[in-house]
Order: sequence, then C-alpha cells, then structure tokens
Amino acid sequence: GQMNLTSPQNVQVDIINTNFTLRWTWNSENDFSVTFSAQYQRLFEDYEEAVIEETDWKEMSGCQNVTVMECDFSSAMTDYLYSYNVRVRAEQGEEKSPWSTTLFFTPYLKAKIGPPGVHLKSINGVVEINISSPEENLSRRMWTSDIIFTYNAVFWENSSNAEPKSRTLERRNKIYDLAPRTTYCLKVQAHITSERKVGSFSPVYCIKTTDKARILAYPINLEIHALNMKFLLTWDNLYDQNVSFTVQQLIGYLMSLPEDYSNNWTTVSGCENITITQCDVSSDIYHLGTYFFRVKAMSGYNKSHWSNEIKVDPCVVNEIGPPNLTVSSSEDSLRIQLIPPGESENKSMSEFYDLSYRVLYWKNSSDAEEKIKEEQQLLFIISDLTPLTWYCLKVQAFSPVYKKNGHFSDAICIKTLNGKDSPLSIFMAFVIAMFASLILASFCIFSIYHISRRIRYTFFPSCKPPSNIEDRFGSGQPFSIPYLSTSEEPTENCCIIESIVIEETNQTDIKEYKHSKQNSRDSGNYSNDDDTSGAKVLEEMLEQEAA
Ligand SMILES: *[C@@H]1O[C@H](CO)[C@@H](O)[C@H](O)[C@H]1NC(C)=O
Ligand SMILES: *[C@@H]1O[C@H](CO)[C@@H](O)[C@H](O)[C@H]1NC(C)=O
Ligand SMILES: *[C@@H]1O[C@H](CO)[C@@H](O)[C@H](O)[C@H]1NC(C)=O
Ligand SMILES: *[C@@H]1O[C@H](CO)[C@@H](O)[C@H](O)[C@H]1NC(C)=O
Ligand SMILES: *[C@@H]1O[C@H](CO)[C@@H](O)[C@H](O)[C@H]1NC(C)=O
Ligand SMILES: *[C@@H]1O[C@H](CO)[C@@H](O)[C@H](O)[C@H]1NC(C)=O
Ligand SMILES: *[C@@H]1O[C@H](CO)[C@@H](O)[C@H](O)[C@H]1NC(C)=O
Ligand SMILES: *[C@@H]1O[C@H](CO)[C@@H](O)[C@H](O)[C@H]1NC(C)=O
Repeated sequence: GQMNLTSPQNVQVDIINTNFTLRWTWNSENDFSVTFSAQYQRLFEDYEEAVIEETDWKEMSGCQNVTVMECDFSSAMTDYLYSYNVRVRAEQGEEKSPWSTTLFFTPYLKAKIGPPGVHLKSINGVVEINISSPEENLSRRMWTSDIIFTYNAVFWENSSNAEPKSRTLERRNKIYDLAPRTTYCLKVQAHITSERKVGSFSPVYCIKTTDKARILAYPINLEIHALNMKFLLTWDNLYDQNVSFTVQQLIGYLMSLPEDYSNNWTTVSGCENITITQCDVSSDIYHLGTYFFRVKAMSGYNKSHWSNEIKVDPCVVNEIGPPNLTVSSSEDSLRIQLIPPGESENKSMSEFYDLSYRVLYWKNSSDAEEKIKEEQQLLFIISDLTPLTWYCLKVQAFSPVYKKNGHFSDAICIKTLNGKDSPLSIFMAFVIAMFASLILASFCIFSIYHISRRIRYTFFPSCKPPSNIEDRFGSGQPFSIPYLSTSEEPTENCCIIESIVIEETNQTDIKEYKHSKQNSRDSGNYSNDDDTSGAKVLEEMLEQEAA
C-alpha cells in the first residue's frame, strides 16, 4: 500500500544568515499520524571529467519524523559555497510516499541577510544609534565578515504624516538635526553592495528626543574639497564670539568593526585650536581606504559637541587638475607633450589613477568644429592638419575606472607651419647657413690676420695683450685672437678657427696641435685655452708661411 500516501509538494528552502528552513505542503494536512523526513546530497564538480557529481543521499538531521510542514536543517549544512539537492517524503508507520521533486540550491547564493541589531540612546537632543551586524557574535557565519555590510535606516517622526526619510548609517552614529521633545521611529537594514544583496529590516524602534543642551553649537555643513589629492575641510562659521576649532580623523575601516573605536579618533596635525573655518587635512589621508572627519568648536571653557562626521573616499572625492602641456607644430601636425596633473607638487595623479588624456582641438575660426582625441601616452601627435592655420587645443586627464574627468588645461593656440618651414627644412637651412658663415668667417679671419700681421711687424714689433688679460692667462704667451674674439665676435668662431687649422695643416701640425691641447688640459687652465692653443698653431703656421 505504498502508493496510498502522496508526495509532499512545493518544497522550498529559506535561508536567513545561517538559519536553513525547509518548507513544503501536503494535500491532507489534518492527518496527524503522518510524519515527514528529508534527505540531501551534496554536488561537486569533477574538474577532470568536467561533470557535476553527487554524493549518496543522506538523511537530513533536523528534518526526520517531523509532524509539521517545516523543519530547521541548519545543523546539516556546513559548506555554504557548495550546491545541494533536497527531497522530502511523507511517512505513516511502514508506509512511505514517493520522494518529492528534488530541489537544487546553493546556500551562499540563496541566503538572505538577516536584520541588524539596533540600539538607541537619547541625550541632550541628540540620538545615538549603535548598530550590531546581522551576524554579530555568532560563530557560524554566512557572510565573510562584518565589515562587508553597509546600513540604511528609514526614519520618520511618529506623530506627523511626513514621508519617512532614508539615511546611510555607520556602525555608530549621532543624529543631531532632530527636533527636541519629539518621537522618532526607525528601522534599519544591512546591505552587501558588492553582492547586490539587501537585507531584511530590523523591527521598528522609537525614541523621544530631549531638550537640546545649552552649549556652544557644533559646526555644521562639513565639506571636503580636493584637488590633486590635496584635501581641504571646510565648515560654516556660526559664531559671533571668538571660537577655535579642532579637527579629528578616524580611519573608515575602524568604523565598520564591531568594537567601539570612538577612542581612536586622532587630532589632525595643524588643525588644532585653529580660528578659521577650514583646514588642510591632506597629511592624514592616504589614497587607500576611507576616512571620517569631525570638528568641534571651543570658546573659553565652553565646548560644542563634535559635529556630524563626514566620510571621505579620497579617490572618489578628489578632483584631477589639468595636465601641463607643451605643444609644437609642424606643417600638418601638432606634437603634444604632457606632464600628468599634480606632478609639479610631487603628487602625480598617475600614481593614483590609471589616467588617459582627452584632447579637444579646433581651428581658431568662427565655424570651427571641435575634435576629440583620446590618448594614454604622454607624448603624441595630432596629424592631418592644414598648414599655416591656427589651431587651439586643451587637454584633460580622465580615469575610466573612476569615471572621473579632470579639469581642462587652458587652451593653447599654435599655428601650423607652411610646407617649407617644416622641421626638416629648417634644419637643412640651418646647416647650409652654418656652412656658408663658416667659409665667410674663415676667409675674413685669414685676411685680417694677414693684414694685422703686416701692420704689427711694421709698427709694433713686440705687441702684448693689455695687462689685465696678461694676468688672467699668464705672461709671456703670444698675442692670440681669442682675446679679441671674446669681446668682438661670438665665441663659436674660436671653434671654427680650430677646425680650419686642422683641415689645412699637415700631419706634424696636427700632432703639435694635439700636444698643445693636451698641455693646456693638464695644466687645468680655462677651457678657452684650447682655443688659445688653436690660435697658436695658426700663428705658427702663418710664421712658416712668412718664412
Ligand atoms: C523516525 O521514525 C522511524 C520509524 O518510526 C524510526 O526508526 C527512526 O529512528 C526515527 N528517527 C528519528 C530521528 O527519530
Ligand atoms: C536563527 O535561529 C536561531 C535559533 O533558532 C534564532 O535564535 C535566530 O533568531 C535565528 N536568526 C534569524 C536571523 O532568523
Ligand atoms: C506613534 O504614534 C501612534 C499614533 O500617532 C501612537 O499610537 C504610538 O503610541 C506612537 N508611538 C510612540 C513610540 O510614541
Ligand atoms: C577676539 O579676539 C581678538 C584678538 O584675540 C580680541 O581683540 C577680541 O576682543 C576678541 N573678541 C571677543 C568677543 O572675545
Ligand atoms: C588647544 O587648546 C587646548 C585647550 O585650550 C590645549 O589644551 C591644547 O594644548 C591646545 N593645543 C594647541 C596645539 O595649541
Ligand atoms: C559659555 O556658554 C554660556 C552659555 O551659552 C555663556 O553664558 C558663556 O558666556 C559662555 N562662556 C564663554 C567663555 O564663551
Ligand atoms: C618635490 O620633491 C623634491 C625632491 O624630493 C623636492 O626637492 C621638492 O621641493 C618637492 N616639491 C614640492 C612642491 O613639494
Ligand atoms: C582666435 O580667434 C579669435 C576670434 O576669432 C581671435 O580673437 C584670437 O586672436 C585668435 N587667436 C589666435 C591665437 O589666433
């Protein structure tokens, strides 16, 4: 008579944190002598065979011989990342129904987040909310750790019909902006943002605020402004008396731990007893993690409460400044060299973000259409431009990961060159001009030398340099051209003379030249001495010629 009992229907599994409940229906619920039993098997992947394998069916502890339509089988579950099959049957004495259809589930994926614990306290017009995580102090955990949770509260004024408000909460909170002697109610739920899981709400808790304490008002409207990882905290100036302020910081991570870290707030250096309503808090921020800041006002012995805390996620709140750029043009292209934002302040934004660069460029004419180019390199070329045209451009850095656009640089305008002004032709022109002036200069010097020598030999047989020059270079040296050239001709000419000497003298002269050059180097004289010795060779050469 096995077939007289029908199988259970609508088998389902509910999981809240690590509480596992199996539920089902059965068609004749009034039959009290019927019991139910469930079995399960664990599934695992055999990677070599690329198949899912199953263990044998096992009796599910907590779900044997139960007389109701549900059972708690939490103790049977150990591995929340594996998958399971479950099935149930009805039993009456020796008689057993066929097994129900098999239900497949993976605990971690199916589990729901339970409600968090909420504790409220009302003092001096302020409501303190302390939250404990859904699995606080439990040894079995579905969720890897308490710090993966974020919390959201829905709260409302009990006596009014005002819309409930929603607010993100930390583990510990102080809500200041509440009316005195008013009842507020709230419920809280936990989230795991990365898993897109939203937990169930806690029960509703209500609390009545007291009168506000008659003390100095705490600072309000804290804001953080950040450019290139320099962080400025500002707040409103509410005070008509002389007030000083102190800023404190807490690492965000501590805020999410179950322990009370309210003693771990530290005063930000340079932000203690300040009299202005802003402070640079950069010294207390590194780019990893989040930070909380709070401010307190003091006037004589009167102190305010700490302000509401502001949460700062550096990489998100930071604005990226403009990059530095150098632009040069050719006939049909612009060459752009960038320096990442912040580099000049030793905080290159490329250390913090994976930066790309966006260039907007346009012809500087009334009907110009703007073009966009995106680049990851710091040096790049915009090509296919029209020669002899003014182009303007501006550049911003951006982080695709943070979906963050930096500030644009100021626009820079530059004219493209005409075809024959291209860098290559400019270089060629330069070489030709150098060559021509070289020939001309050598010709002039030879002529002048010839003439001056003739004159010298005729009228001033023992000419010497003026005494000051003599002092500098040592006496007894023959008169040489570089003294003249330093005052009357560009020094490059000295080099030109040397090269001509080498070209036009024979082997022995070159040897002598090298020798004299060596001497001048050994004696550690001025570099000009090299030129002096060149001139010496020249002079010797001319003497030879005269002979
Ligand atoms: C369930 O009932 C059967 C038969 O009535 C019995 O053999 C078995 O031990 C019971 N199991 C439990 C866990 O009570
Ligand atoms: C889980 O089960 C335990 C014991 O039955 C119970 O005390 C607890 O409230 C349950 N937790 C949730 C989140 O349902
Ligand atoms: C909230 O308001 C309702 C009706 O206005 C009242 O019955 C209830 O007692 C109030 N709850 C608290 C905690 O004050
Ligand atoms: C505030 O401080 C300044 C300078 O310290 C002082 O001159 C002024 O009297 C003070 N004002 C009040 C209201 O205490
Ligand atoms: C700030 O003021 C407090 C109280 O007046 C004092 O104890 C502390 O030393 C001051 N700190 C600085 C850095 O001036
Ligand atoms: C402190 O606060 C009280 C109450 O607001 C006020 O009467 C007193 O003048 C304040 N003292 C100082 C030094 O600001
Ligand atoms: C950047 O660092 C260099 C070397 O460490 C230092 O000399 C320079 O002053 C720094 N510049 C700024 C703006 O901090
Ligand atoms: C760009 O065009 C504007 C108006 O068309 C003109 O005033 C400005 O001088 C131009 N800039 C350059 C660099 O040519």
